[in-house]
Amino acid sequence: MTLATASAAARPSARTVILKGHDGDGLLFESQSYSRKGVELAENPFAAVALYWREVHRQVTATGVAEPLDPSLSDVMWERRPFANRAAAIVSEQGALLEDEERLQSAVAELLRSGRSLDRPPTYHAYRLSPSTMEFWEGSDERLHRRLFYERGASTSLVAWTYRRIQP
Ligand SMILES: Cc1cc2nc3c(=O)[nH]c(=O)nc-3n(C[C@H](O)[C@H](O)[C@H](O)COP(=O)(O)O)c2cc1C
Repeated sequence: MTLATASAAARPSARTVILKGHDGDGLLFESQSYSRKGVELAENPFAAVALYWREVHRQVTATGVAEPLDPSLSDVMWERRPFANRAAAIVSEQGALLEDEERLQSAVAELLRSGRSLDRPPTYHAYRLSPSTMEFWEGSDERLHRRLFYERGASTSLVAWTYRRIQP
């Protein structure tokens, strides 16, 4: 999904991240807290995501607050990552200047060969975007696409969601 964040100075940025799943409270993704997105979320937790399915001409968007999960939950999600992905996430300093790609590759290979346990770096978090709005967009051949806009009220209970149809 595309994840948009903005700095405290309201400068936006966007990138693709994997939607790792969802729980009762929101959409889950993983990243490094020192990355641009991580720094921006620490300054300003408001974020937006967009998912697009070209084959079925549908889009889901959401806005809300994105925050790191409890470390024990981040650990659970970390353990589900393939071995090589964990090694890459440990070795690669996301966003830092790359001076020597070969050295980075051999550091990952060396870590994998070493058989050392690949613990979650304390900077690597699972985040949850808790939506306050969600929109479901369905493309139509007649060009009058359908949009269902959901908004969450002050309460966190499910019944606090209201929805309205909005014009395409
Ligand atoms: C298909 C795809 C999936 C990606 N998944 C993730 C992800 O789950 N987490 C992540 O940190 N970066 C992921 N990336 C890399 C990000 O798009 C981005 O380059 C990186 O997170 C640094 O972003 P930032 O500097 O804006 O924080 C993915 C990229 C692509 C193209």
